[in-house]
Amino acid sequence: MPDLQLVRLDHAPALLAFEQENRAYFAASIPDRGDEFFADFDTRHAQLLAWQAAGTDYFHLLVTTSGEVVGRVNLVQVADGEAELGYRIAQKAAGQGLATAAVRKMRELATTTYGLIRLRARVTLDNPASRTVLEHNGFIAGGSLTLNGKPAISYICELQ
Ligand SMILES: CC(C)(COP(=O)(O)OP(=O)(O)OC[C@H]1O[C@@H](n2cnc3c(N)ncnc32)[C@H](O)[C@@H]1OP(=O)(O)O)[C@@H](O)C(=O)NCCC(=O)NCCS
Repeated sequence: MPDLQLVRLDHAPALLAFEQENRAYFAASIPDRGDEFFADFDTRHAQLLAWQAAGTDYFHLLVTTSGEVVGRVNLVQVADGEAELGYRIAQKAAGQGLATAAVRKMRELATTTYGLIRLRARVTLDNPASRTVLEHNGFIAGGSLTLNGKPAISYICELQ
């Protein structure tokens, strides 16, 4: 598996390339970031680092040996021993078990590095691959909700 690295300032060019290359692919499953995100990427990247420094969010990248970003796995809204998990994998790296392995690694880090006891996730019903990733990692389906205007389901993973 590519290395799972906490996001840094010098990741910005590779992360922007990842988001640009996969923009249309991601937009088929999750909301598009919008033109402003790409136009103002450096400001946004600095904001991520500030949130990370404050301990409210932890952003991780899957980085190949050549320095290419092929995925991201995020813990956001960190509070009270819990966080919300999110992830996206490059189209060219899809279907190789990368998301499943990265979420497994993130589960470990959530406990050992961040001291969390519970992870939450939300997935739209039209994203069965993402649901499979969660279910392979011990996430249990909970209630129904609407996410991005679509029917969705919440998941919980107890870490202890
Ligand atoms: C969803 C996503 C993260 C999956 O990444 P990935 O690296 O291809 O996932 P993996 O290869 O680890 O595993 C996908 C699993 O879903 C399964 N799967 C794929 N399509 C499926 C479908 N239509 N129905 C059910 N399962 C499906 C695969 O068979 C695999 O399970 P397996 O290991 O038992 O064979 C990736 O497609 C992505 O980034 N999509 C866009 C962003 C996104 O949707 N993020 C998640 C938001 S909640």
